[in-house]
Amino acid sequence: MKSAVMFYSYTGNCRNISNYIAKTLNIDTIELVEESPRKGLLGNMRGVVQALTNTRIPLLDGKWQDLSEYSTIYLVFPIWASNVNPAVNTFIEFTNLTGKKVHIISVQGNKNIGKYHRTLDYLSKFIRYKGGRIGSFVTIVYSKKSTPESIPEQLDNFLARRRHY
Ligand SMILES: Cc1cc2nc3c(=O)[nH]c(=O)nc-3n(C[C@H](O)[C@H](O)[C@H](O)COP(=O)(O)O)c2cc1C
Repeated sequence: MKSAVMFYSYTGNCRNISNYIAKTLNIDTIELVEESPRKGLLGNMRGVVQALTNTRIPLLDGKWQDLSEYSTIYLVFPIWASNVNPAVNTFIEFTNLTGKKVHIISVQGNKNIGKYHRTLDYLSKFIRYKGGRIGSFVTIVYSKKSTPESIPEQLDNFLARRRHY
């Protein structure tokens, strides 16, 4: 059975991180794409409200709906308004995760790494409720000013551990 990196990215950071993970571990990437594209300040504000209310936003159809060939998922997403990003809520709600191992890679702008532990707790309960098993967690601090070359050290440490599994 295969592994894949599942990601949502609005401003590109989680895409960079996901491509880096996929290249390092030689696995597939699957992107979660919102049905109505988000833009500008209004898109951000809607995102904050949707994250705060745990909204399941509509996603374009895609590989995320059928994960039968994968046993392990690396889930990469940005923290929004201290919460899980809405695309991730949709993915978990509408996908069968029975028997899948899910590694959680949360990405945030805030430098305080323990800050969103309640959110990550909620997410792991949601994943377990949908039949998944939690593999490991890593939080990456990666902000607007980060570049594809500035992949944080936490990610390399995390990936070095994964290669032994
Ligand atoms: C609508 C919105 C809300 C955000 N809220 C938070 C937050 O509460 N805490 C935080 O640390 N970062 C927050 N961020 C920053 C993102 O988590 C961070 O920039 C991340 O790297 C973005 O990933 P992306 O480029 O793949 O979309 C927010 C970003 C957006 C667009």
